[in-house]
Amino acid sequence: MRVSGIKTLIKSRKSPTDLIEVLQDIQASYNYLPEEALRKVSEELKVPLIEVFRVANFYKAFSLNPRGKHLITVCMGTACHVRGSRRLADELLGMLKIKPGQTTADGKFTVETVNCLGACALGPIVVLDGKYHKHMDASKLRNLIQNLRVKQTGKGNAKNKKRLRS
Ligand code: FES
Repeated sequence: MRVSGIKTLIKSRKSPTDLIEVLQDIQASYNYLPEEALRKVSEELKVPLIEVFRVANFYKAFSLNPRGKHLITVCMGTACHVRGSRRLADELLGMLKIKPGQTTADGKFTVETVNCLGACALGPIVVLDGKYHKHMDASKLRNLIQNLRVKQTGKGNAKNKKRLRS
């Protein structure tokens, strides 16, 4: 990663109160918060590095490790738990062969868990790339994953067909 890219993201924001906003922009651009970027933010915003890491660790929206192309979040809060979110998470993790917080070897999926998304009456809730899916069950979840895999394969096939034609 190039530090100049981070400087562009920081733009004219130089106040410690801009920290979260800057971290959000870096997360959005890189899909995680690289250590090099956090060091630059600390320097530019004059916020101690330990504080930058504390904020980066505190909020679930931030990740210190690269996330997959698709982020799947399973709510494990009490209301979702009693409606079967544990089984859903186990099924999902088994399907993708990863543990919570991990990314699949192909870099396509990251699965994370949270303790409540604030929509308890609609549980169990699974969030896929920012979109909330209410009353989730194993069948719906398998379909979601399958559809994403098909879409990716389809795009790959379309690209290959185009390449073959030209
Ligand atoms: S417990 Fe899942 S949204 Fe509250």
